Amino acid sequence: MDCPLLQERGASGNGMTDLTTSDLTVLGLETSCDETAAAVVRRGADGRVEVLSSVIASQIAEHAPYGGVVPEIAARSHVEAIDGIARQAMAEAGISFEGLSGVAATAGPGLIGGVMVGLSFGKAVALARGLPLVAVNHLEGHAVSARLAADIPYPFLLLLVSGGHCQLLEVGGIGACTRLGSTIDDAAGEAFDKIAKAMGLPYPGGPALEKMAVGGKPEAFPLPRALLGREGYDFSFSGLKTAAGRIAEKLTDDAQRRDLAAAVQEAIARQLTERTGRAMTAYARKHDGRDLRFVVAGGVAANKTVRARLEATASDAGFSFDAPPLIYCTDNAAMIALAGAERLALGLTDGMDAAARPRWPLDAVAAAANPTHAFGRKGAKA
Ligand code: KG4
Ligand code: ZN
Repeated sequence: MDCPLLQERGASGNGMTDLTTSDLTVLGLETSCDETAAAVVRRGADGRVEVLSSVIASQIAEHAPYGGVVPEIAARSHVEAIDGIARQAMAEAGISFEGLSGVAATAGPGLIGGVMVGLSFGKAVALARGLPLVAVNHLEGHAVSARLAADIPYPFLLLLVSGGHCQLLEVGGIGACTRLGSTIDDAAGEAFDKIAKAMGLPYPGGPALEKMAVGGKPEAFPLPRALLGREGYDFSFSGLKTAAGRIAEKLTDDAQRRDLAAAVQEAIARQLTERTGRAMTAYARKHDGRDLRFVVAGGVAANKTVRARLEATASDAGFSFDAPPLIYCTDNAAMIALAGAERLALGLTDGMDAAARPRWPLDAVAAAANPTHAFGRKGAKA
C-alpha cells in the first residue's frame, strides 16, 4: 500500500525528532500464537528500559478441549481481543497515543491468521496516529526479552527454547544474529506438550509436566539420548517423544506418571545443557574468553529444572547467566515493544507493505544453507 504518511521516516521518525538519540515509547503487539498481548515499553536514550504496561490475554481455555492450538480459533480470538487489550495496555501505561514514538507488531514467524491480525492492527494505529511502524520478528523479541529486566550488553550466546523453536544463536545486536544450531525435528516445548498430552496431562503440557515431575524418579524410565556427543549444536527431540509416548500408553498409576514426567524433564534438560555446553566452548574460543554472557529465553526457560541446569552449565564454562523473569519467558508484547524500540533507535522502520510471514528465520543465511531446519509447528524452527 502506498502510504505517504509512513514513507521516508527512517531514522527521523515524524520528521521533527531524531529517534536515534531520543527516549522512545513504543506500543508492542503480539498475536503470533495463542496469546493476544499488548505492552508499552519506554527505552531511554541511554538504553535504560522501563515496561510501562504488559497485558496478556491467554486463549488457553479456548484451545484446551482440542489439546493444542487451533489456528482458526486463535485468529478469531485475536480479532475479538486485540482492540480491548491494546486499549488496556495504553490505559495502564497512563499515556496517550500522542506520547508514543512508534508501534511495533509481530510480523512472523507464527500462525499466519493471528500474525495478520496484530500486524494489520499495528498498521492501522500507525496510519491513524502518524506513527512509524516496526514489523518485528517474534524470535528477535525473544532474543531481547532478557534485556527487559537486566542490562545485558551485546553480544551474547542465546538459547531460544519455546513451543515452536529450539536454537542456539550468537546475538551480536539487532538484526545481527548468527545461528549456531537448531532442532532437526521437534522443538523442546513441542516435545513437552506432546508427551504431556500422551500422558493425559492438560494443555499446555510443559507446565503440567513440570508439576507432575515433582517427587518422580527420573532413573525409573531410561530414555534415548539423542545426538549425545555428536559434532555441532543441533537438537533432536522426536526419538524422545516417540519413546516416552510408548511408555505413556502403559502407565498404570500416578507414581509411574510422576517418574515418567521426571525422566522426560531430565532428558530434555540434559540434551539442552549438553548441546549448549558445546556451543559455550566454541563461543568462548571465538571471543578469546571475553564477553562470555549466556541468555536462555522462550517458554521452556520457565522450567525450573531446565533453568537450574543451564545456570550450572554457564557457571562451569565461565559465562554469566540470565533468563527473563517468568512473565517475559512465554509470549508477551513487552519483548516485541523493546525489539521495536531498539530497531527504531537504529532508524529501522517498515512501510505499510510489511508482510505477515508464517516462516521467518532470524539468520536467513544459515536457514538457506540448511533448509531442512526451516519447518515446524509455527513455521521456522530454524
Ligand atoms: O515462548 P512460548 O510462549 O511460545 C512459543 O513461541 O512457542 O512457549 C510456549 C512453550 C510451550 O510448549 C509450553 O509447554 C512451554 O513453552 N512451557 C514450558 C513451561 N512453561 C511453558 N515447558 C516446560 N516447563 C514449563 N514450566
Ligand atoms: Zn514465542
